[in-house]
Amino acid sequence: MITIVYSHPYDGSFNHAVLETLTSRLEKENKEYTVLNLYADGFNPAVEAASLKVYSQGKTADALAQKYLDTLVKTDCLIFVFPVWWGMMPAMVAGFLDKVLLVDTAYKYDTDGHLVPDKINISRTIMFTTSQDHTSYFAPFFSDYLPEHVYRAVGFDNPEWYNCAQTAHGPEENRTEFLRLVNKIAREL
Ligand SMILES: Cc1cc2nc3c(=O)[nH]c(=O)nc-3n(C[C@H](O)[C@H](O)[C@H](O)COP(=O)(O)O)c2cc1C
Repeated sequence: MITIVYSHPYDGSFNHAVLETLTSRLEKENKEYTVLNLYADGFNPAVEAASLKVYSQGKTADALAQKYLDTLVKTDCLIFVFPVWWGMMPAMVAGFLDKVLLVDTAYKYDTDGHLVPDKINISRTIMFTTSQDHTSYFAPFFSDYLPEHVYRAVGFDNPEWYNCAQTAHGPEENRTEFLRLVNKIAREL
C-alpha cells in the first residue's frame, strides 16, 4: 500500500498542490493509497507524559499515533509531503517520528544495542519538500542524516528526496516543473 504523510495547515499552499497532484494521479492510475493528514486529523505532535511512560514498552497513550503505526506496518511505499521550516521538517512531522516509531514494531535492538528495523518494511521512501532557499543548504539533513540515521533504523528503505526551492518567491515555471515531476513519479509508482 502507498501511504502519504502530509503536513501543511493551509489548503491554499503549494504543499497542498503537491498533495493534490499526487492523489489525483494515483486515482487515475487506480493505485490504492492512504493519506495521513496530520493537521486535518488533529494530530498532537507533542509527546505527552502518558505516552512517554509506556514508550519503552513500545506503547503509546495516543490512539492516533497507534493508528498511524498500524498503517506504516501495512505500507510498502511511503511518501512525505511537507515544507522545510528552519532547515528541518516542521514540528508536526518531527512529532510523527517521535510518537509513531515505537520499539518492537518500528525498530528493535540488535545484540550490540544498535537500532534495526522490526515490523515496518517500506521498500520506497519518497520525500517531497518545498523551501525558499537553495536545496543544497538542506542536503546534509535530508540526504544524509535522515536516511542514514533515522530511516535506516526503522525500515524506511531506499529514500529519495525532491525539493522545490524558491517556492513562495520565484518563477511560476519552477513550481509547475516541480508538479510535473511529482505527477511523473506518481504515475510510475
Ligand atoms: C515557520 C517557517 C519557517 C521556514 N523556514 C525556512 C527555511 O529554513 N528555509 C527556507 O528556505 N524556507 C523556509 N520557510 C519558507 C517555506 O519553506 C516556504 O514558504 C514554503 O516551502 C512554501 O510552501 P507552501 O506554500 O506550501 O507553504 C519557512 C516558512 C515558515 C512558515
